[in-house]
Order: sequence, then C-alpha cells, then structure tokens
Amino acid sequence: MTVQTKRHALVAGGASGIGAAAASHLAADGVAVTIVDLDQSGGRRVAEEIGACFLTADLTNYAAVRETIATRGPFDILVNSAGVDQHAFFTRTSPQEWAKLIAVNLIAVLNTTHAVLPSMQERRYGRIINVASEAGRLGSRGGAVYAAAKGGVIAFTRSIARESGAMGVTANVVTPGPIDTPLLRRAVSEGGDKLMGAMTSATLLDRLGSPDEVAAAIAFLASERAGYITGEALGVSGGMGCGA
Ligand SMILES: NC(=O)c1ccc[n+]([C@@H]2O[C@H](COP(=O)([O-])OP(=O)(O)OC[C@H]3O[C@@H](n4cnc5c(N)ncnc54)[C@H](O)[C@@H]3O)[C@@H](O)[C@H]2O)c1
Repeated sequence: MTVQTKRHALVAGGASGIGAAAASHLAADGVAVTIVDLDQSGGRRVAEEIGACFLTADLTNYAAVRETIATRGPFDILVNSAGVDQHAFFTRTSPQEWAKLIAVNLIAVLNTTHAVLPSMQERRYGRIINVASEAGRLGSRGGAVYAAAKGGVIAFTRSIARESGAMGVTANVVTPGPIDTPLLRRAVSEGGDKLMGAMTSATLLDRLGSPDEVAAAIAFLASERAGYITGEALGVSGGMGCGA
C-alpha cells in the first residue's frame, strides 16, 4: 500500500533514550509524531526539539491511556519504548517490584496496542514496533522479571502480527542489547562497574550501542521499505543475541 497522506506515529516512552531517538528519526522521515510519557519536562523538551506533540499519561493505567490517546490520532505507527529495569537477583526482589516491572514493560504495551490497533485494522494499515530486549530472548542474571516481561513482549508482538497481517498491520519487535541511556546508567549504578564490563563484553562489538542505532532500526521497520516484514524480532545488540 502506498500512503498518500502524512503518517502519524504515537511514540510511547518518547521522552528519553531510545524512544526520544525514535521520535526524532520518525519526524526526520516526515512522520507527524505524538509522544506520550510520564515525564512531562523531558517529553515537552523532546517534542519542542523535533516539532512533535506531547501528551502525558501513566502507560500502566488502561483508562488513562485510552482517554489520553483519544484526544489525538488516528495513528498509523505505534512505537512502544517505555520501560523500567532494576538490577537485583530474583530471590531479593518483592512482589511489589515484580508488579511494577511487569506493568511498565508488558502491560503498558497491551494498553497502547488495545487503544490504537482497532483503528489500524479498520483502516487496513498500521506499523507496530515494540522495544523488548535481548534479555527477553536470552534471560538476564539480575533481571529475571524484566526478562520475563520482555519475553512476553516478543510473544505478544508475534501474536498481534498473526492476528493483524490480513488487515494490513505489521508488528515487529526490536531487541536492544546494552544501550547508553538513563535506564542503563541507573542499572549500572545499582549493579556496579563490573556490570558495565559484563554488559559490553557480552556484545561481539565490545561496546555499548547508542539510542540512534536502535532508532534507525525502528524507523526502518516503520517505513514503507519494511512493508513485507512482520512478526520479526530484530536484535540491535552488537551481536549479543548471535545464535539465539
Ligand atoms: N538502555 C538499554 O540498555 C536497553 C536495553 C534493552 C532494552 N531496553 C528497552 O528500551 C526501552 C527504552 O529504554 P531506554 O533505555 O531508552 O530508557 P529511558 O529510561 O531513557 O526511557 C524510558 C522512558 O519510559 C518512560 N516511562 C517509564 N515508565 C512509564 C510509565 N509508567 N508511563 C509512561 N512513561 C513511562 C520514562 O519516563 C522514560 O521517558 C525500554 O523498554 C527498555 O526496557 C533498553
């Protein structure tokens, strides 16, 4: 399908890191961008820089997501990049911490998808790109619940691809490795310098990635050039997931 009008993207978690870079790449590609995030100051700053619209919502709150998103749209592209991580061995974590990790990393993806997908299906066009993690394919020492949530995002994305392909909607997931963002810096401050060394040496390129390197993959998957790609998990991880 060739889209004649300017496409509109919703970037959830676009106030920082990978989401902010994805919003910027999409805007540079001529897409109208709406960012939704809990972080008002970061969201407003990014939106102003790239000429996007900013909405604030807690993405874990189903009613708030529906109400907020209904003020804009319809959306042709959905990028889910909101996330939180925590470095701790599973036996030292609490059910309250599991609930937060699962809510932000998995339930938020269900919430935005439930709000946006019906109109994509009706209009027979959509691009969904979710940001999971190599942890969701490989597991994570010190991030078991995060990895479980990200594994859920991968399976969910593929399921949506199966349900929506015949309605012109593609759904793909990127699985970043260690990317230099505030989220990674917070995890390193909890896990210490050894964690940073372990993360970089787990990549074949022996370095952290940049948010722009993940955003380039997201922008490609959102583009018309990726129209025949769906249900895929694309590692952007310096080869960390090689062979997985
Ligand atoms: N940085 C990495 O090394 C790395 C690796 C693998 C996967 N990821 C994933 O990439 C995505 C982006 O992470 P990042 O590294 O850019 O982190 P980041 O902290 O820079 O950005 C995450 C954004 O999510 C927003 N957010 C968090 N909870 C929210 C909520 N309840 N409602 C609305 N917004 C909320 C934050 O305000 C922030 O703007 C996440 O899903 C993360 O799990 C990151």
